Amino acid sequence: MKDKLIPLAIVGHFVSFVAIVLVLAWYWQNYLATPKQPIEFPHYIHASNLNLDCQYCHQYASKSRYATVPAVKVCVDCHETTATDRPEVKKLLNYWKNKEPIPWIKVHTRFREHANVGFRHKPHIRAGVDCAVCHGQVEMMTTARQTRTLDMGFCVQCHRANQAPTDCWTCHQ
Ligand code: HEC
Ligand code: HEC
Ligand code: HEC
Ligand code: HEC
Ligand code: HEC
Repeated sequence: MKDKLIPLAIVGHFVSFVAIVLVLAWYWQNYLATPKQPIEFPHYIHASNLNLDCQYCHQYASKSRYATVPAVKVCVDCHETTATDRPEVKKLLNYWKNKEPIPWIKVHTRFREHANVGFRHKPHIRAGVDCAVCHGQVEMMTTARQTRTLDMGFCVQCHRANQAPTDCWTCHQ
């Protein structure tokens, strides 16, 4: 009896090891992998060290559906004279000189098309929901990365807890 259990235990351990590796790989692929951005923009310097409000740059969060990333002009207002000798800032000033927008790569992928989810930032910011609830501690990051799934369970759980509407058509149009 014991002779059979030992190989079984070894196989069992091996199977769970493979399973853990696969889960981690999937998690990395979907949430932690950060795209290589055209400029290594350090959130922690701006949002934490300089203490700029998130909405100083993501200006439309309280006004519209999308929070949006800032126009080059917002950066140039400071960087025309600040840290102009740094390689990453030189890249920034080049985009400005050539009148090109910075081709930032989207970090949060849109919801699946057929789910027709109508997420809007505005009602959440107006209701005082902190950016960190959905986006994590961006002020500790260099380039932003997604920190959690933004799925239906997450949305509905908070709507229930805060007496926000939970009818299907609130979110699905
Ligand atoms: C209730 C959850 C929630 C809160 C609170 C929230 N966001 Fe978002 N945010 C999302 C979701 C979901 C997406 C992706 C969906 C999409 O692209 O429409 C997103 C996408 C973004 C994007 C990229 C797309 C865009 O809208 O421009 C930026 C930038 C962003 N959020 C910044 C912020 C900032 C800054 C705050 C706080 C002022 C904030 N968010 C608060 C859920 C949230
Ligand atoms: C309110 C002023 C201000 C704004 C707006 C601003 N920055 Fe900065 N930025 C700074 C300061 C100050 C530093 C720190 C310089 C230092 O280390 O001495 C900095 C640092 C940086 C660095 C790191 C430089 C290095 O390698 O050490 C990069 C890259 C950068 N900013 C890019 C940007 C981009 C891109 C934007 C626009 C999205 C932007 N900044 C907007 C003030 C600003
Ligand atoms: C000085 C300007 C600036 C400030 C302040 C700033 N951001 Fe950003 N943010 C950017 C830029 C530029 C990008 C695009 C590059 C990147 O993804 O890292 C970005 C990207 C993001 C994204 C990813 C958008 C996507 O593509 O899905 C989120 C989320 C975000 N910021 C949230 C925040 C939050 C939360 C704060 C406050 C704690 C904040 N940001 C403060 C400039 C800023
Ligand atoms: C942390 C809490 C929280 C999370 C997470 C959250 N919401 Fe909300 N949501 C709220 C609150 C609070 C309101 C404001 C209700 C009000 O204005 O009375 C709101 C309002 C809304 C509205 C506008 C409702 C109306 O009055 O027309 C929509 C649409 C919405 N949320 C969709 C979503 C979606 C989609 C997600 C997930 C991606 C989500 N929410 C995640 C708290 C949350
Ligand atoms: C607070 C917002 C919210 C409410 C309320 C809500 N949903 Fe969702 N729903 C979502 C989000 C976000 C997703 C995820 C979309 C994605 O994964 O791209 C989703 C996904 C779905 C999907 C899966 C689509 C797919 O193919 O995977 C179905 C089906 C669905 N919802 C039906 C409903 C029904 C039925 C109701 C009412 C009982 C409802 N939802 C209420 C936000 C909401």
